[in-house]
Amino acid sequence: MNKWGKISLGMLLSVGLLTGCGQNKNDNNAATAGNTDAPATVKTLTMGTSADFPPYEFHKVVGGKDTIVGFDIDIAKDIAADMGAELVIKDLPFESLLNELSSGKIDMVISGLSPTEERRKAVDLSDIYYKAQQAVVVREADKDKFATMDTLKGAKIGVQAGSIQEDIAKGIEGAQLTSLTKISEIVLQLQTNRVDASIMEGPVAKSFVKNVKGLVITDATPEVEDDGYVIGIKKGNKDLLEQVNKTLTRLNSEGKIDEYVAAASALAESK
Ligand code: ARG
Repeated sequence: MNKWGKISLGMLLSVGLLTGCGQNKNDNNAATAGNTDAPATVKTLTMGTSADFPPYEFHKVVGGKDTIVGFDIDIAKDIAADMGAELVIKDLPFESLLNELSSGKIDMVISGLSPTEERRKAVDLSDIYYKAQQAVVVREADKDKFATMDTLKGAKIGVQAGSIQEDIAKGIEGAQLTSLTKISEIVLQLQTNRVDASIMEGPVAKSFVKNVKGLVITDATPEVEDDGYVIGIKKGNKDLLEQVNKTLTRLNSEGKIDEYVAAASALAESK
């Protein structure tokens, strides 16, 4: 090919690309739904979550592809379906979720979120969709040593940054806190003797001790203000709050939430 041949081919290619772009933007048919540059006619519902939390939300290879799954995700899919919207999932650090919500970067937070007075001031919270207790996770050899909350006084405790567990740990006399972004990082700290104990949601604790050798749940029972989970919505977004509560009521009456929890727990335990 001579010099001119190359240039004209290059020109043809760039013209082709430009045309392609233009078409994509004006293309309103359904086939483009799911693309990142989906046309504005497709309604999207963006949820923020910290996908480190089996069986609520976690990563799993499904059909060879890394996917975010869990019962919070199942619930989110129902909310989106009831609205006729496409669900978009954003995996974010737990401690950033409520700020992302207030700044409008996400539409809702579904992340095993516990209702607290402080959070209620910052965002709107849905009805409670599930309840669970808190648990203390330690190395197997320490199971009896940390059998009550009192024994955690002065201990090194690992918790998720921005969580209610961080507040629980702060309330323990002399406790030395290690606050980390992901639950898996806390588990690693436990395994490598950097912390003595961790406080986390019961179902999450169960999932981790099943999958990680050498860790157990003790008999200590941390108390919280409210042991339910809610969905966070930007303050004042009444329509979405109503829609979310409507779907939650439907799912509860159909017994779907318990079904989703059972399925997600089985999925979290499977290899
Ligand atoms: N329930 C606790 C809270 O609201 C912890 C939630 C952590 N969620 C997560 N997906 N890592 O503070």
